[in-house]
Amino acid sequence: MVTRITELSEHIGESVTLQGWLYARTDKGKLVFMQVRDGTGIAQCVIFKRDVDEATFETALRLPQESSLTVTGIVRADQRAPGVPGGYELSVQSLQVIQKAEEYPIGPKEHGVEFLMDNRHLWIRSSRQWAILHVRATVMRAIRAWLDRNGYIEVSTPILTPAAAEGTTNLFEVGYFDDRAYLAQTGQLYNEADIFAFSRVYCFGPTFRAEKSKTRRHLTEFWMVEPEVAFCTLEQLLEVEEQLVSYIVQTALKENASELKLLGRDPAKLANMAPPFPRITYDDAVAKLKELQAASSDAEQKQLLDITWGMDFGAPHESALTQLYDKPVFVTGFPSAVKAFYMEPYPGRPEVCKSADLLAPEGYGEIIGGSERISDPDLLLKRIHDQNLPEAAYKWYIELRQYGSVPHSGFGMGVERTVAWICGIEHVREASPFPRLLNRLYP
Ligand code: 4AD
Ligand code: MG
Repeated sequence: MVTRITELSEHIGESVTLQGWLYARTDKGKLVFMQVRDGTGIAQCVIFKRDVDEATFETALRLPQESSLTVTGIVRADQRAPGVPGGYELSVQSLQVIQKAEEYPIGPKEHGVEFLMDNRHLWIRSSRQWAILHVRATVMRAIRAWLDRNGYIEVSTPILTPAAAEGTTNLFEVGYFDDRAYLAQTGQLYNEADIFAFSRVYCFGPTFRAEKSKTRRHLTEFWMVEPEVAFCTLEQLLEVEEQLVSYIVQTALKENASELKLLGRDPAKLANMAPPFPRITYDDAVAKLKELQAASSDAEQKQLLDITWGMDFGAPHESALTQLYDKPVFVTGFPSAVKAFYMEPYPGRPEVCKSADLLAPEGYGEIIGGSERISDPDLLLKRIHDQNLPEAAYKWYIELRQYGSVPHSGFGMGVERTVAWICGIEHVREASPFPRLLNRLYP
């Protein structure tokens, strides 16, 4: 029977067999220390010359990194034993090599990020990358768990779509027989049809944006969860968002303590994630940014923080705002002109819309974009015309407002940005198993 590394604590003093790969190795006289990883963790396996036959000891001394193997030994609890989660090691009784690996391109030395990205198919085995992708899986599981438990139905939305929903400048166009189609930028418009059948829904899948920007926050393919709620105002939506985000963070803290430790992420920075999150209006945020700009003595920073009412926030604006809070902060009421066509304007003040971005702390910035949706079909049609969108493609969408329309709201949360924040990593590319970027489609 095979035991997994995460189960070693249940087998102290017993002989167990691990199946895995050699992650690293050192030797000292009559001892070889093998770090073996099996997908669930890393465990130290100690080979004492006296305990094994000559051939096994020689094999262990020369085995290349990433060779596949099975190893059998007695489990010992030892606080000092390195590994993930660590604290247990194997005194090896026998070792069987399944395949002796060729010289592995990724060694302990420093590599450039482009080299590592070219070798992403191998790099994901490294402990840091493994830890990040583990957190990603937890985040995705937590999203589904919270939504399922709170009465949301997962309804899949199409990836091949006839029209834009989040601006026309970042569409991926694909041939569709004699016609053309676009890869979905969002599932939202379809979610809005689905709420009239199920009332609370979400879609969760890959989304595509032909972003011509090389920033640490942009991928061309990313995963987004999009809940949509009938009979829901913007204020009610924000409560859903802060509960969901808090649940995700608390779940990661609980289930991925050893991964976060491996990443050097201080759990104290995440521990106080609980509702309510602070809220600030766009108007007040602009005023705050002007104050920060005036107070800054750094000429470059002054330039970056430059803002006038009506401008969308750039990364420097978001970063500066998040430094003012130790929790994520909602910015509400953006200018309608910088947001998507479907956002409900404020009554009596149509130049701002019932929108909210949720900005993650420590400079991470926007992880969620959401809004209340326009209910009035005439206004919706006007917005579609104003933005030069093809009316025919939105016929069905406008029609939703004619058969029992209700106030409704929804949001989209980017998985990679959320994972990057929770893990405390610099760039979203490491939060995706095989990231797609402006200059990267390989491997
Ligand atoms: O703010 P966005 O564009 O909102 C929408 O797509 C709405 N239709 C969502 C809705 O209301 N149902 O995108 C939502 C989130 C962002 O906050 C960000 O986390 C992520 O998706 N995102 C990206 N992540 C990585 N790379 C990109 N290029 C991203 N663009 C958006
Ligand atoms: Mg947005």
